Amino acid sequence: MVNQKVLILNFGGQYDELIARRVRECSVYSEVKPHTVSIQAIKEFNPIGIIFTGGPQSVYKENSPHPDEAIFRLGIPILGICYGCQLLAHHLGGKVVEAQSDSSREYGKTLTYFDTTCSIFQGVKERSITWMSHGDYMAEVPQGFSLVAKSAKCPNVAIADEKRKLYGVQFHPEVNHTEYGKAIIKNFLYKVCGAVGDWNMESYARIAIENIRKKVGKDEVLLALSGGVDSSVCAALFAEAVGKQLTCVFVDHGLLRKNEGDEVEEAFKKWDINLIRVNAEEKFLTALKGVTEPERKRKIIGEQFIRVFEEEGKKIGSVDYLAQGTIYPDVIESGKGEAETIKSHHNVGGLPDFVDFKEIIEPLKMLFKDEVRALGRELGLPEYLVERQPFPGPGLGIRIIGEITKEKLELLREADYIFRDEVAKTGIEKSMNQYFAALTNMRSVGVMGDGRSYDYAIALRSVTTDDFMTADWTRIPYDVLDKVSSRIVNEVKGVNRVLYDITSKPPATVELE
Ligand code: XMP
Repeated sequence: MVNQKVLILNFGGQYDELIARRVRECSVYSEVKPHTVSIQAIKEFNPIGIIFTGGPQSVYKENSPHPDEAIFRLGIPILGICYGCQLLAHHLGGKVVEAQSDSSREYGKTLTYFDTTCSIFQGVKERSITWMSHGDYMAEVPQGFSLVAKSAKCPNVAIADEKRKLYGVQFHPEVNHTEYGKAIIKNFLYKVCGAVGDWNMESYARIAIENIRKKVGKDEVLLALSGGVDSSVCAALFAEAVGKQLTCVFVDHGLLRKNEGDEVEEAFKKWDINLIRVNAEEKFLTALKGVTEPERKRKIIGEQFIRVFEEEGKKIGSVDYLAQGTIYPDVIESGKGEAETIKSHHNVGGLPDFVDFKEIIEPLKMLFKDEVRALGRELGLPEYLVERQPFPGPGLGIRIIGEITKEKLELLREADYIFRDEVAKTGIEKSMNQYFAALTNMRSVGVMGDGRSYDYAIALRSVTTDDFMTADWTRIPYDVLDKVSSRIVNEVKGVNRVLYDITSKPPATVELE
């Protein structure tokens, strides 16, 4: 059985992944594809509905992104959001113009009046808040469309052609600030597209396992296992699909936390899988020697991982497939289409140009972190594994600012261990979705005993988040911070100062590099 699918056509908006998320929260599978996708590919994808995202451009300008006009003749319901709404107007005979003055531009929370007889606004409060961000507006509405929402500044906030099942909204229903945003998306899916709500982890697991079996056949698969949530869930999925054709490779790159290598090996030895632990510390540290630039570090680490996997694959014989637990945020943040690269996640943007495997298989590539955890539970993984805080593939390598050396790694490992040890004693982990120590490249003057010191500053970081795409810093109780700080400066030689990072994401990121 194949799930019903919704296609999200990306016109360069900031919130495309958020739209995908909202649709999935309504139990309907969705995928984001670039606006350049062909009509043939759309037909093959066979969506029950299409959503056009927003975008920073103006529909009437040269080189602005447009869909193939044949899309309007497919008979598939379309919801256009912001720029996507203006595309509908522009292509179907209306007119979009630049807002000449602040009086017709809208930004932020806006009181909006809805026609609640329109299918997508049923159950929405007639006067409620939406979140707007547009500099253009529809001066003329295309034929066949009626106006179904307005605001004080703008009479054309939403348009609908119920016959052709085409809808456009100037505001962003996917953003939490839009009070009835999720209800509007749900109406579009269930009342317009005929969704039945068949997207859940049980069906996802079943389909993913079938697809893996079909693809791999009788071949061998090597899986990059880090012991983190993503790769563990990925391993469970492959183990279920192809059993002993799977070999998991755990690379100890010398950038792991204290005791981590042994702990991961211990945990996975209990599974009925082929597991190889590769000690590659020298290889990684040599390749990283003298390197200070974060993106260079990430690329080097990404490449070294692949070289280790290739070597291990050759030892086994002919291994065609490499499996990775890449998840959707890794793909998004590594940059795609017109969006800017934030960081090259080691398993996506950090991959070298040449990879000596027939194919890399990434069955979690379209899942968000909380969906991966739900899948892990579905596959019967123990709670401690599913709930583990994430640890990035490049490990402590992106938590040491500047050059990575063995000495700095030792120092950071001890400080991080103390932080985790103290947190474990308090029971406050529930509000700390990811927490760790990082080594700043800053040294400063201190006084220890009667002597002067000139040592490193450790930064503690803890974030509270559900999807790691945005995050708030955790309000850790002062007495816990105090204990951690005094233990670190007393127990870790070379550190005389401890800082707590109180920036959210954005503008900062979770990791320091
Ligand atoms: P940032 O620092 O981008 O982190 O806000 C968001 C989440 O992603 C993790 N992260 C990575 N995970 N490979 C990974 O497997 C990477 O290269 C990588 N970079 C960041 C980070 O730990 C956080 O959970």
